Amino acid sequence: MKNATIISGLGMTILCILFSCKDSHENPPETYLSAAEIFQDYFTLGASLSVNQIQGTDSLASNLIETEFNSIVPENCMKSEAIHPSEAEFFWEDADAFVQLGMSQKKEIIGHALFWHSQCPPWLFVDDKGNHVSREVLLERMKIHAHTIMKRYDGKVDGWDVVNEAVLDDGTMRKSPFYEIIGEDWVEQAFSIAQSAQTDAELYYNDYSTAIPEKREGIYNLVRQIQSKGIRVDGIGMQGHVNINSDDPSIDNLEKTIQRFSELGTVMITELDITVLPWPDLSKAAEISLNAEYKEEYNPYPDGLPEDVSLKLHNRYMELLNLFIKHSEDITRVTFWGVYDGQSWRNYWPITGRTDYPLAFDRKYNRKAFIDSLHTSLNQPTI
Ligand code: XIL
Repeated sequence: MKNATIISGLGMTILCILFSCKDSHENPPETYLSAAEIFQDYFTLGASLSVNQIQGTDSLASNLIETEFNSIVPENCMKSEAIHPSEAEFFWEDADAFVQLGMSQKKEIIGHALFWHSQCPPWLFVDDKGNHVSREVLLERMKIHAHTIMKRYDGKVDGWDVVNEAVLDDGTMRKSPFYEIIGEDWVEQAFSIAQSAQTDAELYYNDYSTAIPEKREGIYNLVRQIQSKGIRVDGIGMQGHVNINSDDPSIDNLEKTIQRFSELGTVMITELDITVLPWPDLSKAAEISLNAEYKEEYNPYPDGLPEDVSLKLHNRYMELLNLFIKHSEDITRVTFWGVYDGQSWRNYWPITGRTDYPLAFDRKYNRKAFIDSLHTSLNQPTI
């Protein structure tokens, strides 16, 4: 009986994928539930928003944002190079519009990212001669940066990625300018600064490839040590940049990471996307400094996804989301890194000009079948 149910469920899934039976933006049936509603008993469902989406220039994407997600994070406009381009100047227009959009649609609003070695403005680490500033000067700059932004959105932004990607895959500290100038305790200082802004937002550490055992332990020890000094780190974000051509991260390693991090606070799956494209270096999931030259062999599906790859993607999403549902006591949020395939950063990073299929909504803004398959399986009585 159980096998029969599984087989017929799988049959439906394949039919759904092959004939693209969802057409969510055109004719939602009466009983239609948004993706956020489907997962509402488990976690909030987020998407990162590009500046175009914040400005509402793509009305179909705006519809998806409004109806399908209940949590948002800015893809770029709150990064330091965008929001704090020169020492004396903050650029608020896009960030204000982002927060305004979230407030008017009553969404959970996540700020990303106060301190990250990438997408920094050129002035941040240097004096007017181009030499590194002192530890004291950088800490003071960080304080002005974080306090000004956090206080502006106090009561509106629910949580901040305070520090992004400070640990390397081997579990040691990344030798970023923050580390070089401030020293080993820079992450502790960053959280202390964020805490001293005294806003009501939660404070998060966020990183990629957290299922690598050495990296998992490196992050765990770092956060635990900071917390042991009475400094708040409320949760850890596990970036979800996955490649379909790799068995990593394994479900086992992901599960161990969720369990380990949950000892310290809430766990969030941030930046979820699954690329189906060939990868220059499969061992590096989201190392932003990677890039490679375009070659046709790196862009195998410009006109559509073959059925076997589509099914593989479907199944990988199913196993990941089932794991997150299993651990929904600890996981508060699952955020996709983008709204729909056509605008995903995966189309332009680490190689520009490719066609990727990494998100929950396809190029025609239709919801992919894995969301509805999960919905069906969640409603099936356990035998
Ligand atoms: C990416 C954006 O999606 C791109 O538009 C931008 O060009 C580079 O950054 N880890 C993070 C995100 O924490 O901020 C990155 O976002 C993806 C990797």
